[in-house]
Amino acid sequence: MKAQLILLFITLVVGTATSVKDWWENGNFYQIYPRSFKDSDGDGIGDLNGVTEKLQYLKDIGITAAWLSPIFQSPMEDFGYDISDYYKIQEEYGTVDDFEKLLNKAKEIGIRIILDFVPNHTSDKHKWFQLSVAGHPYYRDFYIWENGTVNAETGERQPPNNWLGSFRYSAWEWNDQRQQYYLHQFGVMQPDLNYRNPAVVEEMKKVMRYWLGKGVSGFRIDAVPFLFEYIDENGKFPDEPVTTDPKCPDPDDYCHLQHIYTNNQPETFDMVYQWRELVDNWKKEHGGETKVLLTEAYTSFDNLMKLYGDGIRNGSHVPFNFEFLNTMNANSTAKDFRYQINRWLQTMPKGVYANWVLGNHDNKRLASRLGPARTDLLNILLQTLPGIAVTYNGEEIGMTDGPISWEDTVDPQGCNANPDNYNSYSRDPARTPFQWNSSKNAGFSSAPKTWLPTNDDYITKNVENQLSAPRSHLKIFAKALSLRHVPAFEEGDFKIKAPTNGILVYKREKTDSDCYVIVLNLGKQDKKINLDDFFNIGGGNVEVVTASIQSTLQDGEIVDSQDIIIEGSVGAIFKVIK
Ligand code: GLC
Ligand code: MG
Repeated sequence: MKAQLILLFITLVVGTATSVKDWWENGNFYQIYPRSFKDSDGDGIGDLNGVTEKLQYLKDIGITAAWLSPIFQSPMEDFGYDISDYYKIQEEYGTVDDFEKLLNKAKEIGIRIILDFVPNHTSDKHKWFQLSVAGHPYYRDFYIWENGTVNAETGERQPPNNWLGSFRYSAWEWNDQRQQYYLHQFGVMQPDLNYRNPAVVEEMKKVMRYWLGKGVSGFRIDAVPFLFEYIDENGKFPDEPVTTDPKCPDPDDYCHLQHIYTNNQPETFDMVYQWRELVDNWKKEHGGETKVLLTEAYTSFDNLMKLYGDGIRNGSHVPFNFEFLNTMNANSTAKDFRYQINRWLQTMPKGVYANWVLGNHDNKRLASRLGPARTDLLNILLQTLPGIAVTYNGEEIGMTDGPISWEDTVDPQGCNANPDNYNSYSRDPARTPFQWNSSKNAGFSSAPKTWLPTNDDYITKNVENQLSAPRSHLKIFAKALSLRHVPAFEEGDFKIKAPTNGILVYKREKTDSDCYVIVLNLGKQDKKINLDDFFNIGGGNVEVVTASIQSTLQDGEIVDSQDIIIEGSVGAIFKVIK
């Protein structure tokens, strides 16, 4: 007993003494989709008490911070991304009290909580929008209103221009009461706020301060590229050019236009820098820990770099790096991965941290996109690259897209498609209930029916099974994650090679301390390798820290570094024994 306590004491002291990073700089950020995470009251919908109940699980697997998709009052037409009151918690998710309990529990066990901040649009049920419709003097210009035009031939009213909403069809909706069109870059029910109105900017800053005051550690900022629209010298919103991409012939489909006037305007970056100032000032004024911003922007690499800052002003701490999500598919080679990794690491501004994202609630699941056999390989990649890892709930157990019928689809992007093609649009398959155990509804809920059906594979694929199995996706994930706190991964350098199309290999090393080599076989064939062919590690034996579930390499096994077999789709981490 005494020996154990002494050991614990040593670990704690050494642990604090060696950590050179601020809490977020090398962290794993875990996205919780609250609606699908854990239902505590049996209504078939996940909720805050459910999240609170499961925070310890996140702690146990080593997560630093959880970012929650929106939990605010909402008609749920875009499942919380249509907010009708930024200061209230959606009833089916709980109360402000429940949220405070969640925060307290998180604080007690050492997990930071990040909220989703949705600044581009509100719900059309928001009081601001209703007052804007009614022409209230303060709210009149809270949204983007235009008269539209009249067709010379038919005499019919038509929208001011050709802009399209992300969920299909015109981005303009006629409002009878106001006798004008309003802009919505997403669904009809999501009117865009007018960021050229200083009162809007101030109201939204107030929202941020309110939740910072409750004790959250920062925000994931939604749909950043859409904040501002271009106005020409005549005060008009010009048409956007039609795409040259032959894959987008449908004039109602968002991809039919090149979004040069509705995305990434210069003012957008300035807004992000202002928000950064706000969170930095918060810390100056209130003390405490650093508050961080994570930004969601599907945009060019150059724009992502600009989101970090412009050299004078700072921006997002974590401009989500969607390059893997956007460019990698089941056929991507080791050289493709090396290119994306090096480009980010070598181009990012000084003094910032890289980040890597493999999934979220808007994309097909990792295992479905890149192949279930590569689940562990990809999780190992995410955990062992320099910087921040972002994990979508369920990826740690290798959840795949759930089969969702047309009848069961509720995502507006799916519903706006048709029974033949909805599957390529609907985001529901990646949002099925989290798989906790093999009992009814995957242990997610006791309800007769859950808001989205569970994926049948939960019977075998679930947290409980994976915690008790000698080897599992979850255990590999947690093992790889635990390395984030050793010197080689926290502060060591990074060298990467792609000797063949299939093999990606990199070294993490802190001189005079520790050294690791990670080998990822993206190919299907087994490969015999000699680690000394890639990096001079001096021959000898290495220890297998962990390896993909299907590999014959065992955690803790000592192997000859010059004679290793890496099976197809296998990833492995080796510790160099010095
Ligand atoms: C972001 C969200 C997505 C939502 C959209 C509109 O892309 O991640 O789920 O539909 O913004 O708010
Ligand atoms: Mg519930």
